[in-house]
Amino acid sequence: MSAHGRSKALTPERDQRGGCLVSVTLNVNGRACTVSSDAGTPLLTVLRDELQLAGPKYGCGQGECGACMVWIDGKPQTACNLPLWAVQGKAVTTVEGLGTPERPHPVQAALIAGNAAQCGYCVAGIVMSAAALLNDNPAPDRVAIVQALDQHLCRCGAHNRMIRAVQNAATAASTDPKAT
Ligand code: FES
Ligand code: FES
Repeated sequence: MSAHGRSKALTPERDQRGGCLVSVTLNVNGRACTVSSDAGTPLLTVLRDELQLAGPKYGCGQGECGACMVWIDGKPQTACNLPLWAVQGKAVTTVEGLGTPERPHPVQAALIAGNAAQCGYCVAGIVMSAAALLNDNPAPDRVAIVQALDQHLCRCGAHNRMIRAVQNAATAASTDPKAT
């Protein structure tokens, strides 16, 4: 699903009409990049349509479902309702910057091991929030995990498996500090 159409509409004609375009420099997954678009273009659109980072997903487009969760300067934030101008100079991390298939983040590894997803549409966002939680609180109890994931909707109803997976990830990280 395409995140949003607006940045695709950038054309020379539109540039010439001018006045509303901004050039924003940000760091995405460790790499500096400069993006020109409407100032109000959602970050999610830029990530998916301009930078080809398809991990963050478009769900509600209103900051209500968590499918588009990324980190801004290390803190989880929904990207669908965050305008491009607001991330000037910020460090943006998407799920692509967190782990790799060869070396998944402990949360990703635990989700895989726990078969904790069905369609997977919500997972990238959940991984970002869960990983941020473990950064702040390496040994969260179930209540803390539920609170951290409260913003995330999973239409497949995989919440309980996901919560168990985050608990397992915390345990794995505590017994193998190299895992983080
Ligand atoms: S798509 Fe961003 S919170 Fe739903
Ligand atoms: S696994 Fe399908 S939406 Fe969560």
